[in-house]
Amino acid sequence: MKTLNVQNCSLLEIIKKVEEHLSSHKESFALKLTLSEVESFGYASFIDLAQNFLLRFKTPQVEGEYINLLFEPLNSNNSFHTQSNSSEKYGIKSSFFQIQKEKKFSFLYYYKEALKHAKVTVRKRILNLGINRGDEFKHIQKLYPNHFNSQEFVGIDFSASAIDYAQKSFKKKKNCHFYCEDINNLDSLNLGRFDMLISIGTLQSSTLNLKTTLMHLVQNYLTKDGAIILGFPNCRWIDGEMIYGARVPNYNFSELGTVIKDIYFCKKYLQQKKFRVTITGKDYLFLTATSIRKA
Ligand SMILES: C[S@@+](CC[C@H](N)C(=O)[O-])C[C@H]1O[C@@H](n2cnc3c(N)ncnc32)[C@H](O)[C@@H]1O
Repeated sequence: MKTLNVQNCSLLEIIKKVEEHLSSHKESFALKLTLSEVESFGYASFIDLAQNFLLRFKTPQVEGEYINLLFEPLNSNNSFHTQSNSSEKYGIKSSFFQIQKEKKFSFLYYYKEALKHAKVTVRKRILNLGINRGDEFKHIQKLYPNHFNSQEFVGIDFSASAIDYAQKSFKKKKNCHFYCEDINNLDSLNLGRFDMLISIGTLQSSTLNLKTTLMHLVQNYLTKDGAIILGFPNCRWIDGEMIYGARVPNYNFSELGTVIKDIYFCKKYLQQKKFRVTITGKDYLFLTATSIRKA
């Protein structure tokens, strides 16, 4: 493995050395610095560097007063984003199914905060659109085990294999229902109204019209005093890593214009409908809306 000696280098000089290395060798390398230099930049700075250059940050090696920070290039072809569109793009055989958001603080922390902010424990009926294998309900169950059994959870997804998986993993829970259905055909299920809607990484899908879907959901599926949590991916999943920055089709770099535009639309619409709206998060941006209308 090539070692790049970057002692006494500024961050801009380190960036230049990494760029030069990667332009000639697409292979793992080590950055060698003193322990005090690494601590003064902070490890988070090198995690950002790894993200910028699509690298995996591996366990550093200590060598006397030096540290070797190890980086491995990601296989950018190993990504569910590159897979063709179908209802099974996110099914149990897909590479999406292998990703583990529950291992990422930057997802789980903000989801937990959004649930708390939207007062999930006082909600009686919770609808999740794009539930996939049911993880977003599992997190609620783990966070609030004493409330979970007295609430009703309904999950929708058009991936038959993901819904089958969710049904099996919640089979002992009589209060959890999963339907394999296209969100565009939601009305055919006659589900009634809910006092919380959750949809993460789904409403921007090419299979849906974000604006009309959101308006339809708010007008026909939410109770007057209901709450909404929408999660917008601001990351790309590459070779098992969550890389900061929204993906836009046909761009090989991250571009935040679409996610900002979509969140802004949702925020404005919900404010007009008398919701208090907050936007938080990092790799997933969470819009939380709580109604200020009277029930
Ligand atoms: C990117 S995944 C997100 C899944 C999960 N919420 C998460 O964040 O891990 C999008 C999910 O929405 C589902 N989906 C996309 N378009 C849909 C549609 N029109 N109707 C029903 N499900 C849809 C996909 O099958 C997939 O499970």
